[in-house]
Amino acid sequence: MNSTQASHASVKADAAEQGFTHKLGTIADAVEAFLAERLGPETRPGEIARPPRLMEAMRHAVLGGGKRLRPFLAVETARMLGGDEAGALAAGSAIELVHCYSLVHDDMPAMDDDDLRRGKPTVHKAYDEATAILVGDALQTLAFEILADPAWQPASAIRADLVLGLARASGLGGMVGGQILDLGAEGRFGAVSLTVDDTLRLQAMKTGAILAFSVDAGALVGGATPDQRAALLRYGLALGQAFQIADDILDREASPEAMGKATGKDKDAGKATLVDRLGLDGARAECDRLVDVCDAALASWGERAETLRQAARFTVARKV
Ligand code: IPE
Ligand code: IPE
Ligand code: MG
Ligand code: MG
Ligand code: MG
Repeated sequence: MNSTQASHASVKADAAEQGFTHKLGTIADAVEAFLAERLGPETRPGEIARPPRLMEAMRHAVLGGGKRLRPFLAVETARMLGGDEAGALAAGSAIELVHCYSLVHDDMPAMDDDDLRRGKPTVHKAYDEATAILVGDALQTLAFEILADPAWQPASAIRADLVLGLARASGLGGMVGGQILDLGAEGRFGAVSLTVDDTLRLQAMKTGAILAFSVDAGALVGGATPDQRAALLRYGLALGQAFQIADDILDREASPEAMGKATGKDKDAGKATLVDRLGLDGARAECDRLVDVCDAALASWGERAETLRQAARFTVARKV
């Protein structure tokens, strides 16, 4: 490539990146509106009252921040399949609530003990620990309520699959299970010696499972065939793996101001991350390999998968 061709290629890459950032922002705005409405002061059918302190703390945890990548994946997957984007937005927003709950609990003193999240004080700092526990509990049940609500998803079989999928991705064998392995990886429950595969499995659970389910939720709402769903699962699992490796690289390299959360903590905690195991260059090479896995999984959709391909690139190149 000569220098003119190289500069055209880089202008094209910049334009694609801007286009992607714009799409991410548009869906983030829609998620914000959906969740702000769900977290309003009015009681909903079946509720007795909405205690103001809990409501306020839930809004603090959920609104006004975050990349909203999980709902983005759900909506863009459904869109690629020509499916119901509003249904995917509701499902993705429910997943975002579980993600927010996981962050509230992850930041608590008994876990990562962090004061800053999304550029604001963490929930236990802005309120107190008991409130933070209850915020997590209430966000989790609200997520399942939305998935089970016929107002957002009329097809009962799809609702049941969404509920089943989120329960599996977020519980014992998924996010929560991964979180306890992650605490163990700091040596809290005794000396550990994790292989690279152990670390990859831990990360697939704590972070990958919910990201992969976000894609699967879009596939379910979008009416994917079993083959399409399997290909999208390969994509989601690779993207989820890459996402946590990128988070660990950013923990090493980025500033708290840029990230809106503390950085440099994994090394201080002696945590066995992939960066710790493979070094920064090795971790970056693994991210590149995973982006190739994402591309291969999307091959049969051709141009229609371009946004999901960009999402994989964003996942590893992001600065936030
Ligand atoms: C942070 O997730 C926690 C991990 C799973 C690594 P995000 O980087 O998606 O955080 P927000 O939602 O954008 O704040
Ligand atoms: C947390 O991983 C993943 C969750 C399930 C919340 P981290 O502890 O690395 O996430 P950050 O860096 O605090 O966002
Ligand atoms: Mg953690
Ligand atoms: Mg943390
Ligand atoms: Mg981290």
